[in-house]
Amino acid sequence: MRISAVAPVLLCVAALVLSFLCLFAGSKRGFIDDYSILTLNTSRIGASFLNASHSSSNPLISFVDNATNSVENAINQDISSVARTLGIHDFYNVHILDFCEGYYTPGPVPNATLRRSQIRQNVTSCSKRTAMYSFDPRSTLQQELSASGHGNVALSDLNWPSDVDRGLHALAIAQKATFVLYCVAIALVGVATLLALAGLFAEDRLSAFVNVLVDWLAFLAIGLASAIATAVAVKAVDVINTYGNQIGAQASTGSKFLVLTWVATAVMLVSSIVWCFECIVGRKGIGPRSRKDYANEPQF
Ligand SMILES: *[C@@H]1O[C@H](CO)[C@@H](O)[C@H](O)[C@H]1NC(C)=O
Ligand SMILES: *[C@@H]1O[C@H](CO)[C@@H](O)[C@H](O)[C@H]1NC(C)=O
Ligand SMILES: *[C@@H]1O[C@H](CO)[C@@H](O)[C@H](O)[C@H]1NC(C)=O
Ligand SMILES: *[C@@H]1O[C@H](CO)[C@@H](O)[C@H](O)[C@H]1NC(C)=O
Ligand SMILES: *[C@@H]1O[C@H](CO)[C@@H](O)[C@H](O)[C@H]1NC(C)=O
Repeated sequence: MRISAVAPVLLCVAALVLSFLCLFAGSKRGFIDDYSILTLNTSRIGASFLNASHSSSNPLISFVDNATNSVENAINQDISSVARTLGIHDFYNVHILDFCEGYYTPGPVPNATLRRSQIRQNVTSCSKRTAMYSFDPRSTLQQELSASGHGNVALSDLNWPSDVDRGLHALAIAQKATFVLYCVAIALVGVATLLALAGLFAEDRLSAFVNVLVDWLAFLAIGLASAIATAVAVKAVDVINTYGNQIGAQASTGSKFLVLTWVATAVMLVSSIVWCFECIVGRKGIGPRSRKDYANEPQF
């Protein structure tokens, strides 16, 4: 048995678990739903709008007027979330298969007594899991505004910028590609795991070579998936913060998710390097059955 092949087996299993977590993170409420590609923070979109314009012909203004007795009250009391009154959630966590929404506790905005690090996300629900999912905040927010049953308040009354829609629309293809790449990566890492298991018992150089090849392919797939996911996150956050800022919408990249996916990539790279080493050691003519030489190799 090739003892040194235990390390790649463990590495491949780790990469497999990590890439599964990347794909299914937040696929239902409570399942690492804070591992999002990006978070859209809409907790202030109502409040900043109210402050900016007091036109009472706007149905949104008359609605808030009615709900809080007066717009001035709403602004002065700095009600924690006008958005919530309108049926919109504080934040939207975008994942590969869906999005999750919820409210910040104890409140969305840091103040004198509430430090930023004390603010927690309370996810209340997640959308349906969809293959090739792409995030469309306009239709999501519009649906929630309509579902809140407050009549004819439309997202356009909130001055939702269409530049945000255009920017995110341009990323939809990349977001769908990310899903496909994670599926391909999971399949390849799965094959790599099986081959690594086989490599435990097949001590020839050919098996090491095949392992190098498949590990490299898996590394490329998960690396490409990570790169595109990172690019989508960075670009979408940039678009939202550039154009959404004026109405109080804010976004941030999901650092936990990005760490997860890049660790998976690194693990796969290490595994392929271990097999490479195995291949080269074999080629130098050290007998494959020479246990002593294998014993000197770094173990996991
Ligand atoms: C409303 O806007 C003014 C200036 O435009 C600003 O000084 C004030 O802090 C804002 N108030 C709220 C509650 O956002
Ligand atoms: C204001 O609120 C009351 C009850 O809270 C409701 O009956 C009424 O229809 C509302 N008016 C408008 C214009 O939304
Ligand atoms: C800070 O925000 C929290 C939650 O929104 C609120 O309960 C608290 O009263 C605020 N404190 C101050 C000093 O404004
Ligand atoms: C949410 O966005 C508002 C306004 O842009 C900001 O003041 C607040 O700090 C954000 N909250 C969190 C938890 O990111
Ligand atoms: C989170 O939201 C649920 C309702 O969806 C609520 O029952 C619960 O108290 C909230 N948790 C916190 C810490 O606010």
